[in-house]
Amino acid sequence: MVIPVLTIDGPSGAGKGTVSRAVAKKLGWNYLDSGSIYRSLAVAALKQQADFGNEALIVNIAKAMVLEFDCGDELVVRLDGVDITGQLGLESTGNAASIVAALPEVRQVLLQKQKDFKKLPGLVADGRDMGTVVFPEAKNKVFLTASAVERAQRRYKQLIEKGIDANLIQITTEISERDRRDMERKTAPLAIADDALYIDSSDMTLAAVIEEVLNLIH
Ligand code: C5P
Repeated sequence: MVIPVLTIDGPSGAGKGTVSRAVAKKLGWNYLDSGSIYRSLAVAALKQQADFGNEALIVNIAKAMVLEFDCGDELVVRLDGVDITGQLGLESTGNAASIVAALPEVRQVLLQKQKDFKKLPGLVADGRDMGTVVFPEAKNKVFLTASAVERAQRRYKQLIEKGIDANLIQITTEISERDRRDMERKTAPLAIADDALYIDSSDMTLAAVIEEVLNLIH
């Protein structure tokens, strides 16, 4: 039986998470937030004060980590039995994640963990290489983006609303740096799949983006 997969790839802050969760909920499908796997590895490596330049060590940490995902209304992630959800959303974790994610062997080790999410009745997978590398067979693919300025402003607003101190200039710089790292890396760089629907959400409401994605499925 063919398990339907919808992939949503794009740069940081494009709204992939919010759109993917809403679409998965609407369809009653499973949801893979692949960034949270790289973020969990970053948390594990930071906890051990590992040298991020030591690929063999980071690979060993990736192999050893036991991750559990509770995909209820809010995603809860446990690393070796400890709830690390609170640390996953931090900007520092996202930046560290993009460093470990550039290591080819790390990506290889984490590949199967991502493929395991493909279960009936279907999967919405959000990340950078979902449509190009992890689920190339997916029938429905979206590349969701927005201008760097718009993405930085959205991230800034989110942080301020959560009561977290934030600096717009710093966020803009970090987003550009993360885009560069994600697009220029040799293994599975952020790229638009040939068969993906390209959506630039800079001037779109969230509801309009969700509708466009759902239209693709129907
Ligand atoms: O999407 P999110 O911001 O949570 O991802 C954090 C980092 O993990 C990204 O900047 C990227 O470097 C990496 N990542 C990746 N491939 C994915 C998902 C995330 O390389 N499929």
